[in-house]
Amino acid sequence: MQQIYEPSEDSFLIEGCLRGYAGIRALDMGTGSGMLARTLSKSFKEVIAVDINPLARERVKGVKNCRFVLSDLFRNVKGRFDLIVFNPPYLPEDDGDLRYAAGRGGKVIKRFFKEARTHLYGNGKIIFLLSSFSPVLPEDIEALGYEVHKMKEKRTNWEALTVYEASYSRELGLHLARGFEKLVGNLGF
Ligand SMILES: C[S@@+](CC[C@H](N)C(=O)[O-])C[C@H]1O[C@@H](n2cnc3c(N)ncnc32)[C@H](O)[C@@H]1O
Repeated sequence: MQQIYEPSEDSFLIEGCLRGYAGIRALDMGTGSGMLARTLSKSFKEVIAVDINPLARERVKGVKNCRFVLSDLFRNVKGRFDLIVFNPPYLPEDDGDLRYAAGRGGKVIKRFFKEARTHLYGNGKIIFLLSSFSPVLPEDIEALGYEVHKMKEKRTNWEALTVYEASYSRELGLHLARGFEKLVGNLGF
């Protein structure tokens, strides 16, 4: 059984960026200890706390307005949200400890962003954190059709932690998809 990720410097950094957000529906992806879901439950009417680790269910029991969903990213998640928060695993490893292993090339993080756009309301936002060890850069997320803005950064001797806000731009997504189709056409595939 996988262990729960206990709140750490990254959790506190991202939590500090949640102030000022309020609405109807929020989702905490990879909730772990449930700390971010608990914060969201103070300013959102409904909070969905998601984790692939079943032990996380116990950690959000009794949190007001909050429901736990056991899921590999969005597989068991229904509906759209005003805000989605994700403090993802960040090491470029496969088959490791799910608290840290983002898969080779950061495939868990990339898959998250590919799936998240269909779970956002039109002006919905994603708040997420990347470490300097993370195999994914903000540019990789922009290439998927998101607009990404830096919110806060914290540097230690060995790592930089950065919190970003992303919104999905339908026009940009369409533009990138058309550009890709044109490129494929030009290459004669
Ligand atoms: C770095 S921890 C963050 C925990 C907590 N949100 C925090 O900020 O302290 C990453 C969390 O993502 C979860 N996770 C990893 N892969 C996942 C997946 N494919 N689907 C859902 N959750 C996942 C882990 O179990 C872990 O709880």
